Amino acid sequence: MENSLTQRSKTLIAIAAVAGAAAIGASLYYYSTPSVETPKKKKTKSKKKEEEIKQTIYPVDKNGVPTLSEDVIKGLTDKQKEEWSMALKEDGNAKFKNQQFKEAIEYYTSALQLKEDPVFYSNRSACYVSLEDHENVIKDTTAAIKLKPDYSKCILRRSQAYEKIENYVDAMMDLTALSIYGGFSNKSVEGLLDKTLKKFALKLVEEKIKLQKPDLPSASAIGSFFGAFKLETNPEGISENSEGGDKLLFEAIKKIKENTIEGYNEADKLIEQACEAYEVLTISKENPSASKATIALEYSSLFKFLKSLPIEASGDLAKAFNLKPTARTYVIRAIIKADQNNFNDAQNDFKQAIKLDGENGDAYYHAGQIYYLSGDLDTALEYYEKAKVHNPSNIFAFIQSACITYKLGKIKESEDKFTEAKLKFPTSPEIPNYYGELLSDRGDVPAALKQFETAARLQKALPNFSVGALPLINQAALISRDNLEKFDEAEKLLREACEIDPKSELARISLAQVVLQKESLDEAIDLFEESANLTKNFDEKVQATQFAEATKIQKRIRADPVLTAKIAEVMRQQMVGINP
Ligand SMILES: *[C@@H]1O[C@H](CO)[C@@H](O)[C@H](O)[C@H]1NC(C)=O
Ligand SMILES: *[C@@H]1O[C@H](CO)[C@@H](O)[C@H](O)[C@H]1NC(C)=O
Ligand SMILES: *[C@@H]1O[C@H](CO)[C@@H](O)[C@H](O)[C@H]1NC(C)=O
Ligand SMILES: *[C@@H]1O[C@H](CO)[C@@H](O)[C@H](O)[C@H]1NC(C)=O
Repeated sequence: MENSLTQRSKTLIAIAAVAGAAAIGASLYYYSTPSVETPKKKKTKSKKKEEEIKQTIYPVDKNGVPTLSEDVIKGLTDKQKEEWSMALKEDGNAKFKNQQFKEAIEYYTSALQLKEDPVFYSNRSACYVSLEDHENVIKDTTAAIKLKPDYSKCILRRSQAYEKIENYVDAMMDLTALSIYGGFSNKSVEGLLDKTLKKFALKLVEEKIKLQKPDLPSASAIGSFFGAFKLETNPEGISENSEGGDKLLFEAIKKIKENTIEGYNEADKLIEQACEAYEVLTISKENPSASKATIALEYSSLFKFLKSLPIEASGDLAKAFNLKPTARTYVIRAIIKADQNNFNDAQNDFKQAIKLDGENGDAYYHAGQIYYLSGDLDTALEYYEKAKVHNPSNIFAFIQSACITYKLGKIKESEDKFTEAKLKFPTSPEIPNYYGELLSDRGDVPAALKQFETAARLQKALPNFSVGALPLINQAALISRDNLEKFDEAEKLLREACEIDPKSELARISLAQVVLQKESLDEAIDLFEESANLTKNFDEKVQATQFAEATKIQKRIRADPVLTAKIAEVMRQQMVGINP
């Protein structure tokens, strides 16, 4: 069911992306209507003197470059200053057209000595753009914007300069201001904002990944991962009375079966110790411990895979293939390949696994997952059915089979399969949770909520993790989806979800959405960042980081009295548009 989960988090993300895209207040997001037209601003054309100035009226040096000394300027009347500065600007424009940017700068600089006109700063900044002098572009556009706060051309130009020097935050502030001045109706500005936000988030995530030390995901994620494996209790006859690597391997498998956060962390360490004890770096396949060393390497590989270390995971597996590979070894390699979207190699490995062991339920189940992901539902169903037969303790084979049957439009048959699963796993919270998802998809909200409640209750009664916080997250998503007044209830559920599963990124990103609606920006930022830290998926990291950064921009906008006043004004205009 991972897919249905990803699906949901994508939906949540999509909702926030709309709010985040414009990086504006949540309330605005609800009120703004796309059909409202922005009042077109009349262009105030500066009344240009029609007279052509052939001869320069201002002094120039021997190279013809304008030179205005303090004394000369002091002696000018206001009218003369106006005339001279206009002449300098026109001549600067001519130089610019000629691509003589450095010369043009001299003219605009002289014009600015006579008059602090935002247009002159703007003109000079255009020269700096051509010279790729981003710092000066920023200086001049800033001066222009100070004189004329809604100077769109300069705001856009400054945002591009900020982006060039990778000051994405200020670039986004400018783009947001542009979006506000344009009444939120300019799609091209929104597109730029989106692109900048994404670029920034990518940069942040790439920097952070370098610093982050590998860590296991949430216990419920590991639980469902190992839940789809047939775990042997004492492979090769090892027991608690064994010694050395054997004992460590035995203890590790026991810990995995505990299915708790601490259990997984301890198992991870024990497996590493077992690998050392078996001397996996040097052991040969003739060694009597070779089979057990292979198993230790398989687990080591799986833990590394779970920690998003695919290269290290593949390395361990390569060592295992040099020892005594079994069907299981192929299954694990296939899973790692499938995760890298290498479905062809993955299927080949599954075929190999099934050839070696026609009763390997894991191979059937995971091969089924790939057929499912590639959209071949009929074959997927066939494989899940075989997985049910060969590994009847794999609850996910039952759930997937029921869900796919539903997706194939066989509602009654799917209900029967859920009933069958419920009878087989009466205390498992998974069944009501995923059955609830199905009901929710069918639009039966009350029945879905009831299933989620049951799932949450069953989970509470278990000593270990299965669905973890999922039923609570599902419940919260459902009640807040159609009913904006139920945010408090959703919030309560999600806070509980965060407590139950301290590593659930989904719980955090969901809670962030809710507190965002309640305008608790600081908490939302924290939660988005925690979620970005927690998820192992790169794209999800980028997305959560985008939300965090968009929320920070929102916060800055709210602290800016000019922009907030403008937002209020735009909203008033749009409300007038709605009720003419
Ligand atoms: C200078 O500003 C004027 C008025 O905005 C504009 O028409 C002209 O194209 C600008 N020139 C340059 C080089 O940016
Ligand atoms: C949208 O914004 C861009 C960049 O500021 C600008 O070039 C364009 O003219 C704007 N379009 C509308 C319809 O206002
Ligand atoms: C969790 O514990 C229950 C009861 O002890 C057990 O039946 C179940 O198999 C365990 N679940 C997992 C995923 O380990
Ligand atoms: C996210 O992780 C970074 C380290 O990679 C840490 O500095 C930061 O405090 C974490 N943020 C949250 C909100 O947990």
